[in-house]
Amino acid sequence: MGNSVIEINSKNGSYPVIIGDGLINRVDTFIPEKYKSGKILVVTDVNVNRLYAKKLSLSGEVYFYVVKAGEKSKNLKTVEKITEFMLDKNFSRTDLIVALGGGVVGDIAGFTAAIYERGIDFVQIPTTLLAGTDSSVGGKTAVNLSKGKNIIGAFKAPVLVVFDTETLYTLPEEEIKSGLGEVIKYALIDGKIFDAIDKEAIDLKEVITLCVECKKRYVEEDETDLSIRAVLNLGHTFGHAIERKYGLKHGVAVGEGLRIIVKACYDKGVLPKDEYEKIIALFDRYGVEKFDKPVADLFPAIKFDKKIRNGKLNVVLIKGVGKCEIRKFDVEKFGAFFI
Ligand SMILES: NC(=O)c1ccc[n+]([C@@H]2O[C@H](COP(=O)([O-])OP(=O)(O)OC[C@H]3O[C@@H](n4cnc5c(N)ncnc54)[C@H](O)[C@@H]3O)[C@@H](O)[C@H]2O)c1
Repeated sequence: MGNSVIEINSKNGSYPVIIGDGLINRVDTFIPEKYKSGKILVVTDVNVNRLYAKKLSLSGEVYFYVVKAGEKSKNLKTVEKITEFMLDKNFSRTDLIVALGGGVVGDIAGFTAAIYERGIDFVQIPTTLLAGTDSSVGGKTAVNLSKGKNIIGAFKAPVLVVFDTETLYTLPEEEIKSGLGEVIKYALIDGKIFDAIDKEAIDLKEVITLCVECKKRYVEEDETDLSIRAVLNLGHTFGHAIERKYGLKHGVAVGEGLRIIVKACYDKGVLPKDEYEKIIALFDRYGVEKFDKPVADLFPAIKFDKKIRNGKLNVVLIKGVGKCEIRKFDVEKFGAFFI
């Protein structure tokens, strides 16, 4: 089967997202010619480096910068070290950064690209389900501070995204599960994705393509997340709090956050019974776990959500598959809806 190519046309830049099998050793054929006479810095983590660095085809003067795997690397110190490395190798603004890995590497490399000499182009080569369906598209980049996640960041669109779906074969089970959290979020937002995954034999490339097409619609309309893009935060208000408080993987925490929202929407009469049962069956099919502690334990963490404006918290509610609503809650009173 051929590749899927989705063009993202955003204010910060237009770029193709190419999805297909066995692309990692053909990446070079997609890289625009103008970068091939310059320097390329591949930012990756130790696991992905071990598995894919040799398979990655790139021409030009290519360097690798390898970070430790995991969220702990997503900080300003790492970014500083990468920029110092680039300076030592005389990288200029016409050179290129390539992010090879999951969302952590994508965020580190993307943010470095946003700030190095006031901005240098970058390419995303996602290797996790989460990165390929979500984080590599849309131009959000950020690193964490000890006090909070994704606090320092920038909107920086990549010039190209290449997702080799064969890289998923080496992805550990728990990372697939984490990626599924975001895929299921998309399924609740878009009925076409729900139908594509609500069956025994799913076509993975079709599902990934549908997720990227869904994200495209929101990113093109509201790239900087001031209005409608907020729908993509479905499950994330609670998800981020669970991730922060209990150290769960991003997508797993989002899955539990989705369950909290869906249950509350049903209990409060926002989500009809038949839709509720359909969604719960999908959660069960994919092993999306329930948050097993009192929901109120999460309220203090949510009060520090960076999306709170003028004392109001935007929470995405669900009225049915494909029907979301962004509702503003008073931050001191929002809890009543969820218990
Ligand atoms: N910028 C955005 O729009 C956006 C959106 C959603 C999430 N995120 C961020 O993404 C991050 C999570 O991303 P993630 O879930 O991809 O985690 P990750 O980048 O930490 O990768 C998960 C693990 O899988 C390993 N790995 C990656 N690809 C592999 C492969 N093909 N085979 C074997 N092992 C592989 C990595 O080494 C790592 O240990 C979080 O920091 C989150 O905040 C960003």
